[in-house]
Amino acid sequence: MTMPVRLGVNIDHVATLRNARGGGHPDPLTVAQACVGAGADGITIHLREDRRHIRDADAEAICAWAARPVNFEMAATDEMAAIACRLKPRAVCVVPERRAEITTEGGLDVVKHRTTLRPVIARLKDAGIVVSLFIDPVAAQVEAAAEIGAAVVELHTGAYANDKPGELARLQAAAALTTQVGLECHAGHGLTFANVQAIAALPEIRELNIGHFLMGEALLIGLPAAIAEMKRLMNAARGL
Ligand code: PXP
Repeated sequence: MTMPVRLGVNIDHVATLRNARGGGHPDPLTVAQACVGAGADGITIHLREDRRHIRDADAEAICAWAARPVNFEMAATDEMAAIACRLKPRAVCVVPERRAEITTEGGLDVVKHRTTLRPVIARLKDAGIVVSLFIDPVAAQVEAAAEIGAAVVELHTGAYANDKPGELARLQAAAALTTQVGLECHAGHGLTFANVQAIAALPEIRELNIGHFLMGEALLIGLPAAIAEMKRLMNAARGL
């Protein structure tokens, strides 16, 4: 039976908008609830080291509410691991973080950092959290993720979204490898109505995490309509 792909909605940019005025509006928790009301299967938040969008109090409120699985993106630091172990989101996605970047520009180099990542993964798993690693679609990275104990990889679709030649084939090959090495496969970054279907159609994909486009589109057609249309396109890509 064909399984639908879950849609995780990344609400970091709601916090960016709120922070622009220093007040409490729009409130990320309220928007997370609206996303779920509109059909989102999960909520994704990234607590960055510099707290430029989501803040500790947002993460706390959203994890405490948790009417849908929360996917907590974080850098592999002791501080973040301690916060995750306390808040107990359903899943953590470990991402690379550079202070100067605008967004998460590349995947985690699991091959290079496997020694430092392994204990972070073990600590999160001990707390009952499903651990995902955000990686570029490269065979060696998929294999290293499985080897150091991750349960999931999220494939970085940023280069695909920027129309890099050959990128869809790379994603296809990396996704196929995930099931061979026993990992669940997610994907995200830069996905839009125009480019989501080729990714949602990859049979190994179980979840897509989408933020910036949905929030931008919400300004034009409204958040519930943007989420509903994204889910319709994802389902249609799988013949559902
Ligand atoms: N997945 C991960 C791991 C991310 O870091 C991001 C961006 O924060 C996304 C998905 C969502 O990307 P976008 O906002 O471009 O949809």
